[in-house]
Amino acid sequence: MCGIVGYNGKKKAVDILLDGLSKLEYRGYDSAGIAIKDKNIEIFKAKGKLINLQDKIKDKNLKGTIGIGHTRWATHGEPSENNAHPHVSNNGNVTLVHNGIIENYQELIQKLEKHNYKFYSDTDTEVLTNIIDYYYNKYKIGPIDAINRTMVRVRGSYAIAVMFKDYPDEIWVARKDSPMIIGQNDDGTYVASDVPAILKYTKNVYYIDNLEAACLKKDKVIFYDLNGDVIKKEMQEIKWDVSAAEKEGYEHFMIKEIYEQPEVIKKTINSYIQDNTIDISRSNLTQEEIKDIKEIYIIACGSAYHVGVCAQYILEDLTKIPVRVEIASEFRYRKPLLNKKGLAIIISQSGETADSLAALREAKNAGIKTLGIINVVGSSIAREADHVLYTLAGPEIAVATTKAFSTQLIITYILAIEMAHVKRKINKKKYLELIKEIQTIPDKIKNILEDDTNNIQKLSSKFSYVHDAFYIGRNLDYAISLEGSLKLKEVSYIHSEAYAAGELKHGTISLIEPNTLVIGVITQDEIYEKTISNLVEVKSRGAYIITVNPNKIDVNKVADFTINIPETNKYFYPSLTVIPLQLLSYYITVSKGLDVDKPRNLAKSVTVE
Ligand code: AGP
Repeated sequence: MCGIVGYNGKKKAVDILLDGLSKLEYRGYDSAGIAIKDKNIEIFKAKGKLINLQDKIKDKNLKGTIGIGHTRWATHGEPSENNAHPHVSNNGNVTLVHNGIIENYQELIQKLEKHNYKFYSDTDTEVLTNIIDYYYNKYKIGPIDAINRTMVRVRGSYAIAVMFKDYPDEIWVARKDSPMIIGQNDDGTYVASDVPAILKYTKNVYYIDNLEAACLKKDKVIFYDLNGDVIKKEMQEIKWDVSAAEKEGYEHFMIKEIYEQPEVIKKTINSYIQDNTIDISRSNLTQEEIKDIKEIYIIACGSAYHVGVCAQYILEDLTKIPVRVEIASEFRYRKPLLNKKGLAIIISQSGETADSLAALREAKNAGIKTLGIINVVGSSIAREADHVLYTLAGPEIAVATTKAFSTQLIITYILAIEMAHVKRKINKKKYLELIKEIQTIPDKIKNILEDDTNNIQKLSSKFSYVHDAFYIGRNLDYAISLEGSLKLKEVSYIHSEAYAAGELKHGTISLIEPNTLVIGVITQDEIYEKTISNLVEVKSRGAYIITVNPNKIDVNKVADFTINIPETNKYFYPSLTVIPLQLLSYYITVSKGLDVDKPRNLAKSVTVE
């Protein structure tokens, strides 16, 4: 996804802009650019990595203290310097950076061409720039009028930062459906697509809502609504520390975040469990409302969806409420049948995933109560859901989620236990037993990291050459296999598939041949023999078998390599089995010499459809 940054203050803007863009690289991009206002507004753009832009400006003594910057993830128009942002209006009046998609940009081109506008790029953003310029020149009222008229006229998503030649000491911003954070300190004001870009400078932030605009001056921020009226915003404080957005001695963010899991899981547990009692009251989901819930719909994308697949088992088992897990991009268009007494749970690390945000709105339009399980405070989904339970994973920089995934899992366990207890489906003894066990998870993960990492690292170097891998399991082991498979695919580019172990014989087993890598996840007492039988089937066809299982399960007859994990309650095994699967993906990728934090084609938060 694109990233925008902006700074208006006392310091040299170029350093702050480049540093901010570097903190947004994880969002995925293919070109970058900045605009700095000194005597005039100077624009510098470069295709490819940020280093190419830095090389371009290293000898320019850019002293300007106001500017905007952008990392572009191409949507309209190929990756090129010409299509890179910032874009400038025909008459040079308006300079703009944008994250999002303008859906009606074709009709806007026709409108603008009638007024003799010309276009030098293939981007929807250049059209947006000229539309603002068009209204600015037509009504001559000033930036907020031009921006508001534009927001009424365009369809799509945007987080924009704009500089007007006639207003040299101001940066104007506006957003709809794309993320934006505004910060302020004694050195000036800041705008960015995400917290890590400004965290180094300030924890004092404002959240700007959809169809609002703001003017960043050197010492204050003025907010406006769509009518152009000034609105008051409360400054909030980001609870993350700066180190969280740095590697802190780890080679990659992904391995750092894998190792942060015991700590952030403990923090998340302690945030919702004190004195062996669950407290989710901050979500404002009352016990009466919980008692009234008849169905649960878990809606998410990617790894967050896999959390939902895991959560379905524990939620249904404990609460006896039917649970459906839906891929957000499907849910939003299939007109699902929903029970008015249902609860839609939207799981999202970023809280900005376009499909998940759209699914939330679909559920709300259907009159369904919504609960977000979100990591980024103040994100769009967090603000629009009826109820929110925040994960306390801190900023997750690596594109491949690990610690956010694990904290989401923990919250689904806590939610399931609380709902089951409130609905009197479990007694106090069971409630306390589950709470006691959940609090052992952080230390058990720490043990896995200590005991298994070296073996997994050694094992991984053997598989950097593989082209296919299969993850199989049953019940919760199948659910977590989905995540293990995605982890491997998205960072190592090795094709992999997750299969319900019992499903292999219905077709896919034809793909198994000598040395095919098969990873068997085996934790569930009631059905582990079945999985072992399935592993025997693939082993007899020459597969190389890695198993992830607690010691008590004997896999000697099938496993070529075993990764042992501690025992825990059957519901909580996904939190333990996912750790070796994360490590395996990480080390195979590193052994392939790939950029594990920024995999090709991927973005950390997919804020477009
Ligand atoms: C996970 O490793 C991926 N980066 C991706 O599947 C991610 O989980 C998905 O895009 C959902 O993102 P969200 O949690 O921010 O909504």
